[in-house]
Amino acid sequence: MRPRRLRKNDVIRALVRENYINVENLIYPIFVVEGNKIKEEIPSMPDVYRFSIDMLSEELEELIKLNIKTILLFGVPSVKDEYGTQAYNENGIVQKAIKYIKRNYPEIYVITDVCLCGYTTHGHCGIVKDGEILNDETLKILSKIALSHAYSGADMVAPSAMMDFQVKAIREELDHNGFYDVAIMSYSAKFNSSFYGPFRDAAQSAPKFSDRRTYQMDTSNFKEALKEIELDIKEGADIVMIKPALCYLDIIKKASEIFNVPISAYNVSGEYTMIKLMAKYGYIDYKKAVMEVLTSIKRAGADIIITYFAKEVARWKENF
Ligand code: PBG
Repeated sequence: MRPRRLRKNDVIRALVRENYINVENLIYPIFVVEGNKIKEEIPSMPDVYRFSIDMLSEELEELIKLNIKTILLFGVPSVKDEYGTQAYNENGIVQKAIKYIKRNYPEIYVITDVCLCGYTTHGHCGIVKDGEILNDETLKILSKIALSHAYSGADMVAPSAMMDFQVKAIREELDHNGFYDVAIMSYSAKFNSSFYGPFRDAAQSAPKFSDRRTYQMDTSNFKEALKEIELDIKEGADIVMIKPALCYLDIIKKASEIFNVPISAYNVSGEYTMIKLMAKYGYIDYKKAVMEVLTSIKRAGADIIITYFAKEVARWKENF
């Protein structure tokens, strides 16, 4: 055997290539803020912006042109409180954004992040009492948020609070109100990662006291991740997510082998900015690095990748 025979030129390399990135499998996150005429770059995430709704059209038209049809919506509200009530306000930022998008760009498939951290003054993903994050009280709020997104026209909701039974609670609430067709992509194995740092700037969602260790997963655990995924599937998740992607490729691999639902992986903000900054300093070939990273996530077994690189990848593909 001489493996180099199959590496001789572009044609033979392409012929034997095992994994590709398809734009159809990418989800692009979008941050929306209250206000007018706002398109502000997120300092910790170069080339990613927060948009007010009136400024969304250009972005959405570009996505459609690039054949990116699926977005993950995050809202940045102007008012926060202890219970995150703005998260289920029918005129809240996400609800307004969904309605705007669905009215003007019905071909866009809208997924919404369902969580409290961006909407609470304390910045935790659940209701807090005496310094503790309460599980079952939070479920009621998460269900209300998901329902309000469904009423506004969301195609899929993505609970990311890491509360036990969040998928079950949301599925029941949606079904109870006739939203059988609204799907759930659960942030199933969401780790207590340091790679969310840049996002917390973007969504202004950093916890004001303590950290998320009592609900997000310990970064060293493998079996527990599989347990979380299994529970979410039993509770009714249509798609399960592993997050972040790069430090957790082993979990993506195993999950894709043993579970019969689509697996998504979130290539998170820290993973994005790391590459952006290296490229800025000229330490890596940006395009090659991005494709290498995304392909590794695909090769590990992810069917779907949520990534801030989606637009750039689509542009490069256009020029292939
Ligand atoms: C909110 C949420 C987070 C991310 C997505 N939804 C952050 C967190 O848990 O603090 C992170 C996304 C990213 O880093 O790109 N629960």
